[in-house]
Amino acid sequence: MGKLTGKVALVTGGGSGIGAAIAKRYVEEGAKVVITGRRISALQETVDACPSGSILPFAGDVMNPDDCAKMIDATVEFGGKIDILVNNAGIDAPAGSVADLEIDAFRKILETNLFGTFYTMHYAIPRFIAQGGGVIVNVASLAALRCPPALPAYIASKHGIVGLTQSCANDYGKFKIRANVICPGATATPMLVNAMQGLAASRGTDVEGALNYLTRYMPLQRACEPEEIAGAAVFFACDDSSYITGAVLPVEGGACVVDPAGSSTSDAGEAWGGAKAK
Ligand SMILES: NC(=O)c1ccc[n+]([C@@H]2O[C@H](COP(=O)([O-])OP(=O)(O)OC[C@H]3O[C@@H](n4cnc5c(N)ncnc54)[C@H](O)[C@@H]3O)[C@@H](O)[C@H]2O)c1
Repeated sequence: MGKLTGKVALVTGGGSGIGAAIAKRYVEEGAKVVITGRRISALQETVDACPSGSILPFAGDVMNPDDCAKMIDATVEFGGKIDILVNNAGIDAPAGSVADLEIDAFRKILETNLFGTFYTMHYAIPRFIAQGGGVIVNVASLAALRCPPALPAYIASKHGIVGLTQSCANDYGKFKIRANVICPGATATPMLVNAMQGLAASRGTDVEGALNYLTRYMPLQRACEPEEIAGAAVFFACDDSSYITGAVLPVEGGACVVDPAGSSTSDAGEAWGGAKAK
């Protein structure tokens, strides 16, 4: 018996990285899962990794509210209900402080990371209320808790996810809806590899060398694996966390406890985005 046997989940951005790891783990734990992404072809690898009938790929853009409504409908059609909503789809931001960042870039990041999260919650919550409860797991970032340099749009979007989730926890607890946030630190996914290119180039190393440099001051001194985020996503989805709502869980190898000023690596702040600005 898995921790999610009989449950039905929607995982946005389930074709790669953290979303793929969450979807696969949810299926292993007994859930039926719908995964979404903009292109159906990008979801196939995750589908192929799961037993037939346990997972459904569905094409949709989280920037589009109508697509988000359809994702919820498709989940209910596939599993007969929706118990768990995981808002994982997200994009990274170009480096640049407020005065430098293009207005359209700021808008796109907010519309994907924050508005997209709002849209799916907006359409899932009435279903949860009608069913007698539900669980929301939102993926923010360490950038929701700390402010790495030169990443205002990403930081604003991820701080916004924390506020949105806690507001939902407050308003809908009486309907047996729980909403929590996971804040990953540097996690080995396509997004991180992409983000490391600039640091690798500036240090004359490869992505692995850049990652070693990035993580050197963290207590666990390595990047997170997507499966380690999936573990937290199972915890928030299942009854092990039945009395937890509105919580913000860093999964960041202890990075939050390091005081850069007192650390042996006083330039640790660059680990969160300053690295990209180089
Ligand atoms: N990798 C990290 O170091 C890290 C750290 C902190 C937070 N995060 C967050 O984790 C989440 C997953 O990121 P990841 O690292 O797995 O990266 P990733 O690029 O592998 O995955 C992001 C997914 O979101 C999907 N997506 C992006 N825009 C979309 C849109 N408009 N509509 C539908 N789907 C869309 C992509 O197709 C992709 O599958 C993101 O929200 C990201 O901000 C990642």
